[in-house]
Amino acid sequence: MRRKLVAGNWKMNLTKDASAQVAAELAKLVGDKKDADILVCPPYVNIPAVQEALAGSNVEVGAQDVFWKDSGAFTGKVSAPMLKALGLTYCIVGHSETRGKFGKLEIEPEEVAQFNETDHTINMKIKALLAHSIKPILCCGETLAEREAGQTDAVILGQIKGALEGLGAADLGELVIAYEPVWAIGTGKTCDAEEANRVCGVVRKAVADLVGADLANAMRVLYGGSVNSGNSAALFAMPEIDGGLVGGASLKADEFSKIVHSA
Ligand code: PGA
Repeated sequence: MRRKLVAGNWKMNLTKDASAQVAAELAKLVGDKKDADILVCPPYVNIPAVQEALAGSNVEVGAQDVFWKDSGAFTGKVSAPMLKALGLTYCIVGHSETRGKFGKLEIEPEEVAQFNETDHTINMKIKALLAHSIKPILCCGETLAEREAGQTDAVILGQIKGALEGLGAADLGELVIAYEPVWAIGTGKTCDAEEANRVCGVVRKAVADLVGADLANAMRVLYGGSVNSGNSAALFAMPEIDGGLVGGASLKADEFSKIVHSA
């Protein structure tokens, strides 16, 4: 039985005091829940304040992205050893908002360079995190155009293959994958639970084919995309869905705690 993980991706929201306040409320509401893993990923600058507010609770703190070099002349970037030194346990990689070229960020070609994340850079980020014992939460998912063209499974397969290039079962023990259909992110359009379950199964099968069934069966596959307290129970009841990556609904402690309790 895989343990559920409910992760909040706070994206670029909440200033220091507001994030500490949400974290303090979360500590009260879900801080002693023991039968699931709970995580929040605030912006880097708010991590210490959130950690302080969550101290002694069961809620872990992660990051939203990482750069693949340990140190050097990389203005504005944050490395895996820096995250490790803060005691972080998880880090999101390959979110569609950092991949940039997808979905609602299906932007003008000249702007793509601003968000120039590729399967290759995602692969380097995963390797950097694993080298510092931080669990990657790898995001994958198709755009609406790709879904309508019947390419969903092929897109997911390509993203996973690119992200895991050169890695084997021995490296990937702590990997989490989040299936996040881009058309469902921040849109209020949740993927139907049966279909989300099917694609999470496709994710697991892809990992089984690449690195073996043992790892794939133990690995947690999350669903993300307009998860809220009204749909989380149905999603989390699905056999292939091991929890959620929650954006908008994770910003309010009350709403996020209901989602956590449904796991
Ligand atoms: P959402 O975002 O829950 O606001 O749709 C999910 C995500 O982007 O991880």
